[in-house]
Amino acid sequence: MNTKSLVSISDIGRDEILRLLDIAGRFEENPNRRLLEGKVVATLFFEPSTRTRLSFETAVNRLGGRVIGFSDANTTSSSKGETLKDTIKMVSNYVDLIVMRHYLEGAARYASEVTDVPIINAGDGANQHPSQTMLDLYSIYKTQGTLENLTITLVGDLKYGRTVHSLIMAMRYFNPTFRFVACEELGMPKEYKIFCDENGIRYSEHRDFSSEVIDSSDIIYMTRVQRERFADIMEYERVKDLYNLNNSMLTGARDNMRILHPLPRVNEIAQDVDDNPHAYYFEQARNGLYARQAIICRALGIDA
Ligand code: CP
Repeated sequence: MNTKSLVSISDIGRDEILRLLDIAGRFEENPNRRLLEGKVVATLFFEPSTRTRLSFETAVNRLGGRVIGFSDANTTSSSKGETLKDTIKMVSNYVDLIVMRHYLEGAARYASEVTDVPIINAGDGANQHPSQTMLDLYSIYKTQGTLENLTITLVGDLKYGRTVHSLIMAMRYFNPTFRFVACEELGMPKEYKIFCDENGIRYSEHRDFSSEVIDSSDIIYMTRVQRERFADIMEYERVKDLYNLNNSMLTGARDNMRILHPLPRVNEIAQDVDDNPHAYYFEQARNGLYARQAIICRALGIDA
């Protein structure tokens, strides 16, 4: 794998995470710098996206680079049976960097093994979403002033939610305490609980999204129950509305507590929360631009 690829959040360690957060801060001060002059970036989205694709493309545009790519694989030759390997090798002929979202877990790792062009994983199935994690870490750092010793409550679809999986792995360096709030069917997979045990990360599991949990959290990270991951639609219908956050549940929250959500939301956060001072999910999405500018520069070896 190209060492500048970002396939899993575990590809980067504590020092590099902190360095990228620092660079993201500089991009927030000035996102318009012509650091990518002459560079072409491909965005290959085999799954739908709003924020990830548009923020990556905005990041490239604001840095003076060019973007090619697709947001609907049905319009490409993969619909004629072209393999992922051939697609990646072909696109590698044209560009300096590939940003790819794919529905198969491990697709980004595979892509990184068939090309010398750096690959940024923009989400592979239920596995990983490392650029989301960088913007989540940036959002946590901005709102809490630190990444250390925080109590983070993850709520909703913890089974298929790739953003929460990546976040747990990244937070291993910062002594977090996690609460996992989910129903039995969507609980945190065993492998991530083993990861917590092996890395000395404290966690507890909850079925109830109780006031005790909310009032003792620094971060509440809501997630959508992802219909597209369910083989059985009846199963989805049964669990989709189990965890909903509304304003009346926030009266005892800590002043510093912020609500994050990778978005899109369906109804797991009521609209009335949007104007609550604890809500931070729209700002979080904006932070994606700066975090992704930092990630792109890392991938291309550009000193930012
Ligand atoms: N958070 C996130 O990945 O959003 P999109 O699916 O809209 O890219």
